[in-house]
Amino acid sequence: MSGDIETLERQVLTEIEGAADLQALEAVRIAALGKKGRITQLMKRLGGLPPEERKSFGQAVNTLKRRVGEAIEARKSALAEAALAARLAQETADITLPVRPGPLAEGRIHPLSQIWDEVTEIFADMGFSVAEGPDIESDELNFTKLNIPPEHPARQDMDTFYFKPRADGSRLLLRTHTSPVQIRTMQAQEPPIRIIAPGRVYRCDSDQTHTPMFHQVEGLVIDEETHLGHLKWCLEEFCKAFFEVDEVKMRFRASHFPFTEPSMEVDIAYARRGNEIRIGEGEDWLEILGSGMVHPNVLAGVGLDPERYQGFAFGMGLDRIAMLKYGMPDLRAFFAGDVRWLRHYGFAPLEQPTLAGGLSR
Ligand code: DAH
Repeated sequence: MSGDIETLERQVLTEIEGAADLQALEAVRIAALGKKGRITQLMKRLGGLPPEERKSFGQAVNTLKRRVGEAIEARKSALAEAALAARLAQETADITLPVRPGPLAEGRIHPLSQIWDEVTEIFADMGFSVAEGPDIESDELNFTKLNIPPEHPARQDMDTFYFKPRADGSRLLLRTHTSPVQIRTMQAQEPPIRIIAPGRVYRCDSDQTHTPMFHQVEGLVIDEETHLGHLKWCLEEFCKAFFEVDEVKMRFRASHFPFTEPSMEVDIAYARRGNEIRIGEGEDWLEILGSGMVHPNVLAGVGLDPERYQGFAFGMGLDRIAMLKYGMPDLRAFFAGDVRWLRHYGFAPLEQPTLAGGLSR
């Protein structure tokens, strides 16, 4: 009898192990433990046994039932786990994205920021420091202190953006040039002075080469023995370094500015060869800056003795020289914020212009 039970146990356990899925396992369970199952049938024999055998037989069948039941549960969870693993392996979704290039690869420095840094680098090397003034300026500093009195015609030429007059009649304005920084600097520090002042300026004007806001860099040198030769040398050295050429053909043309005497405008030569523009040679001229020896009235106006101090000043269009150096034909594109333009004309963010390493790479 117990031999039968052991054989049955082995058979059923083998069937359980062999069940390939939950359905097959359920069939094995019903065949063993179901109403007509083989183990259930065994129990029915209990009544026909002699009383002394019933107890041990009953216990043996119950043990068998328990073991089979446990084996089925174990197999069931193994099958369920395997089924889940198979499903997970099959139902995959690729949620990874290609890694985007970071800001160092994608970002670009605006050509104007580049030019600003290049100009600063060159003048810093000559011993200039950088001065600043506000975009919103007083009439007094933008004009009067620069020897442009209220009735002076130069005021009309500037196409000034004015603010509403204040109670005392004075007016603020958007500075029309960086020249008021000359006045601020001379009021704030003693000579010798050697500064440049790059910044935004504003005039009511707009076409392909003019925008209502544009950029200038002002230069000012004040000392006791400064003369026109210094001015000329300084601007020539600047142009050679800036355009990265050994020689630059330049022309100093007599001109007039109220705040300088004598005054000169400076042109540089350029040649057009097909699509290419060559700077510093050829027969065409392009004006890039105004300059001159600081007018005695300007010096006296800030309390400097014109008998003792002289100096020179210049004002250069940053956008103008940027367009020239990097071949950008339309100034309005500078401020349009078009990322395609920036991608084309912009500079890599870590390539700082240095005289040692090269200004533009
Ligand atoms: N401020 C002048 C302008 O905007 C440019 C200029 C001319 C600046 C002569 C100077 C200078 O410092 O000396 O047109």
